[in-house]
Amino acid sequence: MALSVLPGPLLAQRTTLRLGGKALAEVALRQADDAAELPGVLAGIGGRPAVLGQGSNILAADGELPLALVRPGEEPAPRVVRWEPAEVVVRAEAGTDLRRLLGFARGQGYSGLEGLTGIPGSVGGAVAMNAGSYGCETARVLSRTLLYSERFGLAWRLPGQFASGYRRFDPYPGADAGLWLVLAAEFRLRRDESGAVRQRMKEVFARKFATQPLKAHTAGCVFKNPAGESAGRLLDACGFRGRRLGNMGFSPLHANFLENLGQGAAAEALELIAQARAAVRERFGLDLELEVKLWP
Ligand code: EPU
Repeated sequence: MALSVLPGPLLAQRTTLRLGGKALAEVALRQADDAAELPGVLAGIGGRPAVLGQGSNILAADGELPLALVRPGEEPAPRVVRWEPAEVVVRAEAGTDLRRLLGFARGQGYSGLEGLTGIPGSVGGAVAMNAGSYGCETARVLSRTLLYSERFGLAWRLPGQFASGYRRFDPYPGADAGLWLVLAAEFRLRRDESGAVRQRMKEVFARKFATQPLKAHTAGCVFKNPAGESAGRLLDACGFRGRRLGNMGFSPLHANFLENLGQGAAAEALELIAQARAAVRERFGLDLELEVKLWP
């Protein structure tokens, strides 16, 4: 069997927020073709399958969790699969650390991914969430993506076949594909000077570092921004910047980030979220929608 199965992984060790109890098992894929074995293996484990990259957008509950984690592979390394005069197409496997892909693009002088600098996560996670910042969105540079789904099996999806929006990616619009996961992605990038790409990445990182707690244990922004507004500004205005409960707290730097200050509990995070939502609803009449995913 090409899939490996590890029993009882701790979500606290697999998420950047460092929260969460014990899942049933973790199923790791080495390569895309291994996905064909997933249904049989998952049926044997039971629980709900949950696809995990670097765990940078997940708030996992404490205690025993009825989840079967599925982790796509990261090899081979990012590489060019098509050369054109002004552009290249770069392929990366879903489990690849986004920083590794950005490092490759920087070293080779390929432009288009600079806005993703400073986002922790995997390539698959960035596609599945349509991660972005400063006007750059993953889906916009996506040339095509290889997915596995229960209903449609292995299939490449092209722009025009998938739908995307703000922190949203739907590979099978209008269809119920069952469990699906990104296995690989190809990005159309512009050839440029390595130094110019490096400079732009440095600028994005500096801007983010000044305004977001990049060194703390967080899951990125907790809430989506309501149309035309910033959730961080609303939470700040309601007094939540720096607000703590036990070992969890909203960042003193940016109110839309929850930080685990060490030994934090999911219950504390959920209580802070409930308080913040209630305050924003009361003061601004707006219902904040979660950006982080609650597990299970
Ligand atoms: N602001 C405050 N107080 C705060 C935080 C922000 O007043 O505590 C104000 C800022 O001063 C600024 C405005 O709110 O005037 C917007 O803040 P910022 O520029 O930091 O952007 P954001 O809307 O909070 C969004 C994304 C980030 C992304 C940045 C940069 C969401 C929920 N957040 O943040 O994405 O990095 O723009 O493009 O869409 C993420 O998705 O996890 C994430 C971090």
